[in-house]
Amino acid sequence: MKRRKFLKNASLSGIGLALGKSLTSCAETTPSDSVISTLEVASLPLVIATWDVKNATAKAWEVLQNGGSALDAVEQGCRVEEANEKGQSVGKGGLPDRDGNVTLDACIMNQNGDCGSVVFLQNITHAVSVARKVMEDTPHVMLAGSGAEKFALQKGFKKENLLTEDSKKSWEAWKVKSEYSPIINIENHDTIGMLVIDKGGNLSGACTTSGLAYKLNGRVGDSPIIGSGLFVDNEIGAAVATGLGEEVVKTVGSFLVVELMRQGKSPQEACEIAIRRIVDKPNSNYKNFQVGYIAINKQGQTGSFSIHQWFSMTKFQQGKNETIQSEYFNKDA
Ligand code: GLY
Repeated sequence: MKRRKFLKNASLSGIGLALGKSLTSCAETTPSDSVISTLEVASLPLVIATWDVKNATAKAWEVLQNGGSALDAVEQGCRVEEANEKGQSVGKGGLPDRDGNVTLDACIMNQNGDCGSVVFLQNITHAVSVARKVMEDTPHVMLAGSGAEKFALQKGFKKENLLTEDSKKSWEAWKVKSEYSPIINIENHDTIGMLVIDKGGNLSGACTTSGLAYKLNGRVGDSPIIGSGLFVDNEIGAAVATGLGEEVVKTVGSFLVVELMRQGKSPQEACEIAIRRIVDKPNSNYKNFQVGYIAINKQGQTGSFSIHQWFSMTKFQQGKNETIQSEYFNKDA
């Protein structure tokens, strides 16, 4: 979409105007319950996740149906993909760094704004659950590397070799040329991020990844960085990112999406503006990498947008579990 058209769309269709307020005045106002109650609320609960991960959204839905919280739902949903050895970008079976180490990043955030995160975690499949333990059982937000692993083992997590035979073979094939091309797309689906709004309208989110395949040893991406890979504000909404983490970190992407929603943008508009923030940077190399966002607001409206084609969002609502292709920026490819 051309810039002028994009800006026009963005300025005409915000929730702020739907409410008869200017976007500027919305930006200065904290939405009150009375403002929110004038908006149509989507059918709740609602689960969304990055990419085509219907097993994961189905698990989250099941947790909600059985009386679990939004936090339980995002954790259990993410665990499905962490345990899926065929997925080579999350948990067990994730592609390793260039030295052959599988290192995981994950975070989780609840409706009260509490959060927990692990970075460079090795030998533990369920990074998202370790992140939840960091949130609930420590005074900290983030644990890294051997400290995170030691903490996980103390909490009863099982030590496992995360490098499967398939991922080892892929790594050995990569080593022949050792070419590093960090484009992330459908074949290498990257981070699983999940956002849930429960029937009471309360939000939680989580994300988990093994990060970029064949990254430098020690590299950490956006996924465990609160505000970059994930942000939840129970007054406003939540957002989660996938794709090249460095670009998400440089624009504090998920926080940006939530703050745009605070200013009256719909989740869709907010995701689009956050992607434009990346591609409009001077000397942006966006043709060579993917970033995608999904977002949800307090009314249960959702949005997703990416730089390139083939990003998708899975949505579970009213008993229907479907994967929806996202709109995207680069139509020239
Ligand atoms: N988005 C995952 C990463 O860059 O590590």
